[in-house]
Parts: sequence; C-alpha cells; structure tokens
Amino acid sequence: MELIKNLKWRYAVKKYSEEQVSEDKVDQIVEAINLTASSCGIQPYRLFVITKPEVRQRLGEGSFNAQIHASSHLLVFAGFNNITSDYIRDYVKMMEQQRNLENGALNVLNDTLIDYFSVQTPEQNVIWSDKQAYIGLGTALIAAAELKVDATPMEGFDPKLFDEVLGLSEQGLHASVILSLGYRDEANDFLASMPKARLPINIFSVRIN
Ligand SMILES: Cc1cc2nc3c(=O)[nH]c(=O)nc-3n(C[C@H](O)[C@H](O)[C@H](O)COP(=O)(O)O)c2cc1C
Repeated sequence: MELIKNLKWRYAVKKYSEEQVSEDKVDQIVEAINLTASSCGIQPYRLFVITKPEVRQRLGEGSFNAQIHASSHLLVFAGFNNITSDYIRDYVKMMEQQRNLENGALNVLNDTLIDYFSVQTPEQNVIWSDKQAYIGLGTALIAAAELKVDATPMEGFDPKLFDEVLGLSEQGLHASVILSLGYRDEANDFLASMPKARLPINIFSVRIN
C-alpha cells in the first residue's frame, strides 16, 4: 500500500524551508478534512487556514513551536463550545437537502440528537468536539503525506491567545489542536534524517482470534 510508504516518509517537522505549499494542495487537504467522519456526522469543529504573517507571529508568541509562524500554512482546528439545538436543526436540514429527502424525513435523527445533546454539559460537549477535531487532524496528516507536503501536529500553543487573536469565543469556538504545513528544511532539521521510532507491531497490536 502506497499509504504505508507515505506514512514512513512523514514526520513532525521542526524546521521548514521557505517553500510555500500551493493553494491547490492546501485545498485538497482541507477537502480531505471536510470528508472526515465525525460522531453523529455533525462536524462540530471549524477549520481556520492562516497564512497572514502578522497573525501567525502573534499566535506563536510564548510557544516553543517556531513552526506556528515559520511554515507555509497554519491550520487551526477549532472545536465547538456547545452543541445547540439550532445547530442540529440546520445541519439535519442540510442533510435532507443534500440527500434529496423530503422536508422532515430526518425528524427522528433531529429529535434524537437534540435530546442527547441537551442533557450534556458544555464541558462534555467540548471534550466531544475536541475528539472529532482530532480525527480531522489524523486525516490532515494522511492527506498531507499523500501529497508529499510536510506537516507538524501541535498541542504546544496558547489556546487563550488563539481565542483572543482569532475571536474564537465570539464564534462559540475554541482552539483544539493545530497543524503547520510546508516543506522540510532537510539540511537544518535534526529530525529529517532520523529513522522513525515506533513499537514493534506485535507489541502495539493484539490479535484475538
Ligand atoms: C496531538 C499531537 C500534538 C503534538 N504536539 C507537538 C508540538 O507541540 N510540537 C512538536 O514539535 N511536535 C508535536 N507533536 C508531534 C509528535 O511529537 C510526533 O508526532 C511524535 O513524536 C511521533 O513522531 P513522528 O510524527 O515524527 O513520526 C504532536 C503530535 C500530536 C499527534
């Protein structure tokens, strides 16, 4: 499988070259993320694609991750702070339209989701949204590897600063996890020539037949 080769090729880049990723490739990565599965299928996160240097400089303040500003693009996965009934209604309506169903055909789904989420606390909803955002992150890593675009997933950032700079709270969002995209600076990244470190498959994976 070509994917295994691509996954062996990728690593979490520490130092990027100046080379920019084409918008076409970024669009493909974004589309792959949008196609990612999510629990209940309601995509409870949004994706910010940031290139503006001043914004990225500011976002990277206080972080040990230079990749926040020194890469081609920065993707911010922003989870929902809450799952509202209005959001569910609008999403289910969109599903009905996209699947050419009659108005109300998905009422059972709509009501089940509203009942379920209305008894969850905001904290539970944040944890759930974050989990969905991380599934999107996984897809992004795979999509980038297939396009031979380098990427670094990062939790080393200041979520409060991201909220402030991107105005996330006003949009009912918070920064869950981030991903830089670009091309490795092979000569100056100490990790570029390191073999991958992973558990032997028989330790990592247990088969119960
Ligand atoms: C959710 C997540 C958060 C991470 N945060 C950081 C980070 O803040 N800075 C960094 O340089 N690498 C970060 N990494 C990269 C990991 O250290 C790296 O994926 C791991 O060591 C395995 O190495 P590889 O991805 O190069 O194969 C993160 C990875 C994940 C999945």
